[in-house]
Amino acid sequence: MRQVYINGEFKKEDEAKVSIFDRGLLFSDSVYEVTSVINSKLIDFKYHVERLDRSMNELKFKTLIDHDEILAFHRKLIELNNLKEGMIYTQVTRGVVDRSFDMPKQAIKPTVLAFTQEKKILESDTAKNGIKVMTLEDMRWKRNDIKTTQLLYASMAKSEATAKGFDDAWMLRQGYVTEGSSNNVWIIRSKNIMTRQSDNLILSGITRAVVLECAKKLDYEVITKNFTKVDAESADEAFMTSATGLITPVVKINSSQIGDGKPGNFTKSLRAEYIKRALEIAI
Ligand code: PDD
Repeated sequence: MRQVYINGEFKKEDEAKVSIFDRGLLFSDSVYEVTSVINSKLIDFKYHVERLDRSMNELKFKTLIDHDEILAFHRKLIELNNLKEGMIYTQVTRGVVDRSFDMPKQAIKPTVLAFTQEKKILESDTAKNGIKVMTLEDMRWKRNDIKTTQLLYASMAKSEATAKGFDDAWMLRQGYVTEGSSNNVWIIRSKNIMTRQSDNLILSGITRAVVLECAKKLDYEVITKNFTKVDAESADEAFMTSATGLITPVVKINSSQIGDGKPGNFTKSLRAEYIKRALEIAI
């Protein structure tokens, strides 16, 4: 049984409890981060905690969580659960207070919880074979730049895709692709690598930012701008980025095969570069 973290303590997973008045539960008034773990080390940890601060600031949480404290419970969770490869999920809610749409004006103690989950990251089947995505309308709110736990539409979108035999959904606003259910989107057309610009309609992914750096290192130029569903369906290569998927090739979009239906060469070289860097900077 896993050991999890809750408000300063480590407990067996079935003994960790959260109040029924927690605003995370009642209003999704909470933010989260997912950090990948490879060889028992954390990848891009610093960027994840910086984004956690940003999310909490955007929601006007009145206290932040100390980064050293976050690092300490991440390391302890890896040790207690003997985690070699997978992820650590961390969630911070505004806290526990009587139910009201008016957010508490006074500072209240946030609820902080974290747990490990094993997952194949380096040698995943999806990285080897690529995935199939379908497009559907993006019906989420317009503050997707904040990493909140308000994830119901993303979960509905992913479930609709898997029920139809796809692996994930790419969401569309006015014909333009915003992002995947839990990842950022990229396409390559006549050697131009494109990813959507970051604004309030997408999460500014940590992996996305690092892949932009990796592309620079490989002397690939990346254009950060909106692209349409039609651009995506006729791309030479496509992939998505996220902490736990790293760079995952996309080999089919709706009924269109991408390239020769196998992970593309640019995608593979970017993934290799990302992994090389990740292993160097892991802590
Ligand atoms: N999801 N866009 C959305 C909507 C996401 O949920 C995520 C991450 C990303 C990629 O961000 P990053 O590269 O920082 O992981 C983009 C995580 C992995 C999740 O919810 O499990």
